[in-house]
Amino acid sequence: MKILLGVTGGIAAYKAADLARMLVKRGHQVRCCLTDAGSRFITPLTLATLTGEPCFGANPDYHEWRPNPKVEHVDLARWADLVAVVPATADILGKTANGLANDLLSTILLATTAKVLWAPAMNKAMWAHPAVQANVATLRGFGHAFVEPIEGMLACGEEGAGKLAEVGDILEAIEGQGRASIPTLVGKHILVTAGPTREDLDPVRTLTNRASGAMGIEVARALRDSGAQVHLVVGGELAVPQGIEAFRVRSAQDMLDACLSLWPRMDGVVAAAAVADQRPDSFADQKAKKQEGPETLVLVRTPDILATLAQARRPEQWAIGFAAESENHLANATQKLQKSVWMPCC
Ligand SMILES: Cc1cc2nc3c(=O)[nH]c(=O)nc-3n(C[C@H](O)[C@H](O)[C@H](O)COP(=O)(O)O)c2cc1C
Repeated sequence: MKILLGVTGGIAAYKAADLARMLVKRGHQVRCCLTDAGSRFITPLTLATLTGEPCFGANPDYHEWRPNPKVEHVDLARWADLVAVVPATADILGKTANGLANDLLSTILLATTAKVLWAPAMNKAMWAHPAVQANVATLRGFGHAFVEPIEGMLACGEEGAGKLAEVGDILEAIEGQGRASIPTLVGKHILVTAGPTREDLDPVRTLTNRASGAMGIEVARALRDSGAQVHLVVGGELAVPQGIEAFRVRSAQDMLDACLSLWPRMDGVVAAAAVADQRPDSFADQKAKKQEGPETLVLVRTPDILATLAQARRPEQWAIGFAAESENHLANATQKLQKSVWMPCC
């Protein structure tokens, strides 16, 4: 992909160098455009060296007369498949939301018909300011995408939401924009369950399984890339991709509660979670002590999430389920399918 990386004047500008390096390593062609303020934080030489391309904007001044002048903002605006602004200041958000163009980057942002992605970073009060939030809403209305700032220690010494998102998440969002998605699922709301559940015995011990959640999260990502609104109910620790609404849960009962609250608004469900079939029959408030002789753990059944969703479903709602088996895979999965309460409508 041809990526025009705009770098504006925030302390997080140094992270743009790493992003540029990672994008180039992944085979993208990257050209950087620095604002004047951006060039106070990071040099054009760094970005030009990492990308192997000239760094535009800060030097030379694009209003300068040159022989065979090119209309640089239009050339770059046409060249890019995607314009990503990382980090984006309150200033550049405000300028673009209001149609102002007084330097190369802001002019490219108005001249381009490519996709635009913003990764803002600023002090938490600036990010929370109604003027900034109104500009963000305006830009979203133009169809621009955002990788929102995260909570953390800010350069000003305060803690809160305003820190630049992780560079890996920005990279993923950029590549997500470039993926040739077939928007077949636009307007559909799809529930996805993923990851293991945990059934606690006492404050320190738990029963779980070896699922990571990776498959469900990849399914969620693919549905998102096809245009669906994805609502992910997830156990375990894996990071959730951008653009997916996530509900972190622990036990099978938590997962069921989250699914049931979403279900009336959903078109269908992909149930990829590894839900515990049993849980301890009681939870000890204090850490259970070891005892002499054999010890017994009494288990009870957890709710069947797919069966419960089936009972509450409208006729047009659909489901995709999985069967994890350690033997006789096809026979066991077929038997599970035949017993499924969803069968009559499938
Ligand atoms: C040390 C320092 C750090 C700054 N950090 C930020 C920041 O993180 N986010 C932001 O929106 N503005 C920040 N600013 C203010 C911008 O640099 C200023 O609004 C500038 O005009 C932005 O210009 P640009 O959007 O053309 O890059 C900072 C200023 C200074 C002096």
